[in-house]
Amino acid sequence: MSTSQYVFTDSQHSKELERLQAIEKVFDPASRRRIQATGITTNWQCLEVGAGAGSITQWMTAVVGESGKVVAVDLDTRFVANIKSSNVEVLEADIRHVPLENHSFDFIHARYVLIHISDFQVALSRMLDLLKPGGWIVIEEPDFSAARAIVGEAAACQSVNRVNRAILQMFANRGMDYALGVKLPAILQQLSLQHLSVENDAPLSNGGSGVATVMKMSTVQLAEKYIATGEVTHEDIKKYCLFADDRNAWAIYYATVGVTAQKTAV
Ligand SMILES: C[S@@+](CC[C@H](N)C(=O)[O-])C[C@H]1O[C@@H](n2cnc3c(N)ncnc32)[C@H](O)[C@@H]1O
Repeated sequence: MSTSQYVFTDSQHSKELERLQAIEKVFDPASRRRIQATGITTNWQCLEVGAGAGSITQWMTAVVGESGKVVAVDLDTRFVANIKSSNVEVLEADIRHVPLENHSFDFIHARYVLIHISDFQVALSRMLDLLKPGGWIVIEEPDFSAARAIVGEAAACQSVNRVNRAILQMFANRGMDYALGVKLPAILQQLSLQHLSVENDAPLSNGGSGVATVMKMSTVQLAEKYIATGEVTHEDIKKYCLFADDRNAWAIYYATVGVTAQKTAV
């Protein structure tokens, strides 16, 4: 599978950085809380998969200290290449084939990465090989099947729901599952991980909120891909963006399923 399958590959540099930083602002607090619950501490060797704009990588370098290490892997490391820290290593690679030693990490984190990989099982299996026996993993993936307009002008709600169908179709056309998040617990359970804890965050948000803004940014960047599915028009995209700005319009934009689990110790 080529690396070009990441749907935001062609996005303009500054727009993509802005979108990734908006994601970090909204979702880092929950991610940090889940990661901290694993017991992460000084000395730990950590892997951040799909590091994006790098905030979790940077935060983990401080948590593990000089005696620990964080390896940040991404297909495109333009936003993390300049992280200045003696205990960070940035690798531009596909997680499915990353040249790292098996059983070398105490902890692995990935947020919103597997959903972009059609054969995500290969990525997951590589991640589990890299994890030490007894090591911890936190995976957070979206579930777009939770998305729906709740309150707003009827025509606007219809456009929002049509955009949600376009998201489903776009992922399906690429061989990807827009509801991957909600399937994660069962997938990880079948891989014999233990001590699973699962959270399903499906915030009901109004226009102008962090989540609405993130989804508006994604919609602007992916508008042509959504339109190409045949599910939406330019008018629907326009209405979605206005809805996402309207403080009186409410929606569940998507859910995030976060799973924390431990690899069986041998
Ligand atoms: C939606 S962004 C999420 C970024 C970050 N994890 C966050 O939540 O803020 C997905 C990231 O995963 C990276 N990515 C996608 N497919 C990948 C792969 N096969 N191997 C490594 N990184 C990948 C993308 O380049 C992008 O930086």
